[in-house]
Amino acid sequence: MTELKPVTQASAVKATPTLPDAQTVTDVKHWTDRLFSFRVTRPQTLRFRSGEFVMIGLMGDPDPKTGKQKPLLRAYSIASPAWDEELEFYSIKVQDGPLTSRLQHIKPGDQIILRPKPVGTLVHDALLSGKRLWFFATGTGFAPFASLIREPQTYEDYDQIILTHTCRDVAELEYGRKLVEDVRNDEMLAELMGEGFADKLVYYPTTTREQSPRMGRVTDLLEDGTIFRDLGIDGITPETDRAMVCGSIGLNTDLKKILEGFGLREGANSDPAEYVVEKAFVG
Ligand code: A2P
Repeated sequence: MTELKPVTQASAVKATPTLPDAQTVTDVKHWTDRLFSFRVTRPQTLRFRSGEFVMIGLMGDPDPKTGKQKPLLRAYSIASPAWDEELEFYSIKVQDGPLTSRLQHIKPGDQIILRPKPVGTLVHDALLSGKRLWFFATGTGFAPFASLIREPQTYEDYDQIILTHTCRDVAELEYGRKLVEDVRNDEMLAELMGEGFADKLVYYPTTTREQSPRMGRVTDLLEDGTIFRDLGIDGITPETDRAMVCGSIGLNTDLKKILEGFGLREGANSDPAEYVVEKAFVG
C-alpha cells in the first residue's frame, strides 16, 4: 500500500515577499540585445490611467560601509492597458546602467519592486477632444502607446489614431509591430471596443540606420510633408488633431517646435490642450 504524505502547512503558504512593494515576474521577452519586455503581477489595489508611469526597480547592492541596501528605482511607463490583470513594461538594456544592467536578467518567478503611485501626462484627460490622435514614439518611448492602443477610450474618443515609431533598425520595431498585429487580431478587444475598431489605427514605423520600407526621422517626415502624402492627410491643425509624444529629449524638443508650428498648444492634467509630451525614461 502506498503511503500518502500529508500536505504540510508550509507548502500551502505562498512565499513571503522579501522586497518592499514586491511583485512577481510572470514573463520576459528579449527582442534584441538592447530591448526586452516583461510582465509582472499587478497589486490588487493599483488603479492607473492607460499611458501613466510608475517607479520600478530592484534592491541595490549593499553599501560598502554600512551594509545597508536601498531600492534602485526608475520611472517606467506601464505598457499594458488599465484593464489588464498584469502589468507590462518595455525596457532598454544599458550594459553599464545601474538598474537595467541587472534588470535585463530577471526571470519568471523573480521579484521586482513596484511603487504603486502611477502618474503621467500621456493620458486622455490632458487633451481636449479632437478627431485625430497622433502617437509619436522613438525607441522605448513606444511603451505608453502600447498601453493606449489597447485602451477602449482611444477608439471611443477619436476617428483615427496614427501611431508613428522611429527606431534605428527593423529589429527594434518588432515589439511594436507585433503588438499592433495582435491588437488587430484580438477577439476580446474587438468585443470590448466594437468590431472594426482596429481600422481606426494607422501604424507608421520608420527606421533611420537600416533599410526599410519607410526611412527617416519622423520629425523630418513631418517637416517635408512626406508623412502627410503617405497617409493622404492635408496636415495637422489645432481644430482636429491631438498628439502625444514620447521619446528622447531631442525628439521631444524637436516635435514640440513642430507641433507648436502647426498651432497646437501643450496640455497638462490640470489644463488640457492639444498635445502632451513625456520623455522616454532610460535605466
Ligand atoms: P537617428 O538614428 O537618426 O539618431 P535611440 O535608439 O538613440 O534612442 O534612437 C531611437 C530613434 O530615435 C533613432 O531612429 C533616432 O534616429 C531617432 N531620433 C533621435 N533623436 C531624434 C530627434 N531629435 N528627432 C527624431 N528622431 C530622433
